[in-house]
Amino acid sequence: MTRVLYVASEAVPFIKTGGLADVAASLPKELRKLGIDIRVVMPKYKNIPEELKRDMTGLSEITVPVGWRNQVCGIQYIEYCGVPFYFIDNEYYFNRDGIYGFYDDGERFAFFDRAVLEMIDRIDFKPDIIHCNDWHTGMISPLLHAHYRQREAFRGIKTIFTIHNLKYQGVFPPEILGDLLNLGMEYFDVNQLEFYGGVSFMKGGINYSDIITTVSESYAREIQSPEFGEKLDGLLKSKNQNLHGITNGIDYAIYNPEDDPDIFFNYTVSSLENKALNKLKLQELLRLPQKKDTPLIGMVSRIDRMKGFDLVINILEELLHQDIQLVVLGTGDPYFEDLFKDYAEQHSEKLSAKIKFSSSLAQKIYAGCDMLLMPSIFEPCGLSQLIALRYGTIPIVRETGGLRDTVHSYNEFSREGNGFSFDSCNAKDMLYTINRALGFYKEKPIWKKIINHAMNGEYSWNRSAQRYVELYENK
Ligand code: GLC
Repeated sequence: MTRVLYVASEAVPFIKTGGLADVAASLPKELRKLGIDIRVVMPKYKNIPEELKRDMTGLSEITVPVGWRNQVCGIQYIEYCGVPFYFIDNEYYFNRDGIYGFYDDGERFAFFDRAVLEMIDRIDFKPDIIHCNDWHTGMISPLLHAHYRQREAFRGIKTIFTIHNLKYQGVFPPEILGDLLNLGMEYFDVNQLEFYGGVSFMKGGINYSDIITTVSESYAREIQSPEFGEKLDGLLKSKNQNLHGITNGIDYAIYNPEDDPDIFFNYTVSSLENKALNKLKLQELLRLPQKKDTPLIGMVSRIDRMKGFDLVINILEELLHQDIQLVVLGTGDPYFEDLFKDYAEQHSEKLSAKIKFSSSLAQKIYAGCDMLLMPSIFEPCGLSQLIALRYGTIPIVRETGGLRDTVHSYNEFSREGNGFSFDSCNAKDMLYTINRALGFYKEKPIWKKIINHAMNGEYSWNRSAQRYVELYENK
């Protein structure tokens, strides 16, 4: 049986800031069904819900070298939905409100990466593969290479590094090599960890791991170009043979309109009248006029530039002149948050801005809206469009990354397609595409057909989990 230690900085239901947390929970669950002994390790943050913390058991205490000091930490354990989770417990680094964005993030995750490796000797689980995710885990492969290869327990361990978002790289001053990682200045080299005068965790993960993956095929291609490569395109291009794009799936047990407890009425593709009832209830909840024939467009998103909010603001007035309703749910850049709040006050009949995080309202939006707008500037995979598709809510997206791979624009000649898409980062093109969708919305048989295509598509982990198994077992 292949044993995999899956390392992530967040996972639901423990803690979440983005899509990584969903993947770190749902992918291991799926891989265990396929016979992989996969276990997850993450930091024990203060903000993990109390009831989950209460159920954790202490396994052992370990000492972790962090430069010239030693930090003691506990290893805790819990099984959740059949998946074993280990937690690295150190109050100094993780007993604070929030997950990222502290002055000492470099130190916190240098410690975490080192602690994960130290843990391997001390628990009853010797992995064949360490599967790392995003920059927070980027130093694991270099540290393994530098400090652990000689130890018996580490012989033959392979590493995989998955990029969920290349934009966040974890770059810190060169001093961290000696001060925190016990690495010599030979690592401060363009072929090792050096990145424009700093030390890059992301580059460490890419350079030292045996296999690199990212979360869609298009994004795997895009990050090899200067436009999306975040200055690592050259390196990624040189690793081309070892770089795989595997599209994320969603957890079908959680995202299922047939038995989702968070929505007003459950439905399937053959009871779409219940989807219409969800819309009326949602309109009521949002204090929008209950109009069953007015198209309701939803956005469930971090509210920032990456997600295309510049484009939306640009055409918002024009869009709101039409017979539509729009609901925006999420938090993010205060500039956009305030703009939406202002617009919502001026157009209370048409726009509802919920500047908060609520997974229960999110589900009601996926179920009750007619369309989901997701005009991301870049999108490694994207999960909202997958959930929307499964709920028969038609995505309108920009053709980038995972959006390009999962949403197929409706073609009126072949009558194929599960959504609508546009290519350039241009607000007018987006508006044109929204209007195109609004046009087909009025043609009920066509719209129904698009919903059918959307709801009958496959967005589960099935195929993708199998691809991870192949990577685990061939290497
Ligand atoms: C990041 C990406 C998003 C992806 C998610 C899970 O949040 O921005 O596109 O779906 O990771 O891989």
